[in-house]
Amino acid sequence: MRVLAVGGGAREHAIVAALVRAGADVFACLRNKNPGICKAAKGYTLVDESDVPKVIQFAKASAVELAVIGPETPLEVGLADGLWSAGIPTASPSKSAARIETSKSFMRELLARHKVKGSIRFAIVDTMRDLELALDELGINVVVKPTGLTGGKGVKVVGEHLMTKRDILAYGDEILSKNIGGSAKIVLEEKLVGEELTIQAFCDGRRVVPMPAVQDHKRAFEGDKGPNTGGMGSYSQKGGLLPFLGRSEYEDAVKIMEEVINALRKEGAEYKGTLYGQFMLTRKGPRVIEFNARFGDPEAMNVLSLLNRDFATICEKMASGNISMKDAGFEAKSSVCKYVVPEGYGTKSLAGEEIKVDEQAIAREGALLYYANVNEEDGKIYTTTSRSVGIVGIADSIEDSERMAENAVRHVSGRIHVRHDIAKKGMLDAKVRRMEDVRSGRI
Ligand code: AMP
Ligand code: GLY
Repeated sequence: MRVLAVGGGAREHAIVAALVRAGADVFACLRNKNPGICKAAKGYTLVDESDVPKVIQFAKASAVELAVIGPETPLEVGLADGLWSAGIPTASPSKSAARIETSKSFMRELLARHKVKGSIRFAIVDTMRDLELALDELGINVVVKPTGLTGGKGVKVVGEHLMTKRDILAYGDEILSKNIGGSAKIVLEEKLVGEELTIQAFCDGRRVVPMPAVQDHKRAFEGDKGPNTGGMGSYSQKGGLLPFLGRSEYEDAVKIMEEVINALRKEGAEYKGTLYGQFMLTRKGPRVIEFNARFGDPEAMNVLSLLNRDFATICEKMASGNISMKDAGFEAKSSVCKYVVPEGYGTKSLAGEEIKVDEQAIAREGALLYYANVNEEDGKIYTTTSRSVGIVGIADSIEDSERMAENAVRHVSGRIHVRHDIAKKGMLDAKVRRMEDVRSGRI
């Protein structure tokens, strides 16, 4: 099968690798010359991924029979709709269904309209006066978000990024006056306490086929400190749960995802593609932090590295509307992904720096390598402002996967930064203890 893959990050390298494993011929549209994708693809073009006419032109010239879109920005401008109109079935959501990610206000209001479990207290405001009124109502223990896309970097949490009511008002004013996230609108949410987790699911408009749970680490620095980033690393546990997550809690979160798919369908926005649910596991169970209309990055690297079924067929079935539980299957292994990022990532990345990646040494460690937003020029690899390389260790235990990923990360050099603490035993034990405290009400 000839398949179009859109996007040039490590998530998309993992998508392309899974398609190639399934015997597909991949044709890639990407902005940066990602050496992993360009090598694995039968053809590629360097293009703005949100330039719908150009992507469609390439898709037609490559005679693709199916498409899958990695990042959110092309979804927001309706690339999936354009591809369907050009006769190309697409395993990614329409512009209308992707609002579950592209508009945080739409997401919160949809959940409220359909009384989806896992909803939280929130307010949507577009003036400073309404912001003040909402703070009177919700209190100041809140999270402040621009409604539109900010690459995971626009969310500010009271007690971490914002300390006082004045800080909240100042950030609110900045969102409104600078149109942060593309529109002068703020979503205020109650601040949830617990452990975060991600569940991704294959969706065909009606059905939800969930994948193993993953935990991402969004903060730039060790100990979960520093600015929010796109994600610095992630892990999953053999069997699909997490050290702090029980089966019934996982199932409750999946149920919420099913309700969201149903709500979208009822409102005429059938959701076809991978849905990403991010939850806070609280004392009362999972609560929705956000949805993404795509795989997570880095979380795609965890689940797609473990997928042991035909990913091209899964995409075909998502698009055609007949996926079932038996179409997905995952190795009974744990996985740990560590991201190598440029120095300064999260605030001001050191872009355009050469890094060295010893592919053979990484393979000798048994780890998988996914190139992210780097550029290959004359056989050398250069950083951009975004993340550089994802390394995945796979083994029975999280501990052994972590060791494999750590050993492999040493074979990437340059002016780079890695969070070495992700998925280390001490960190996991602390999360389990913390979740016990949350459950018992001590936190
Ligand atoms: P988002 O871009 O919505 O995923 O938010 C980025 C990060 O902010 C999340 O990974 C959480 O750590 C934090 N966050 C977002 N919403 C909330 C909330 N309602 N309560 C607590 N933390 C939140
Ligand atoms: N890892 C978070 C995201 O993909 O948005």
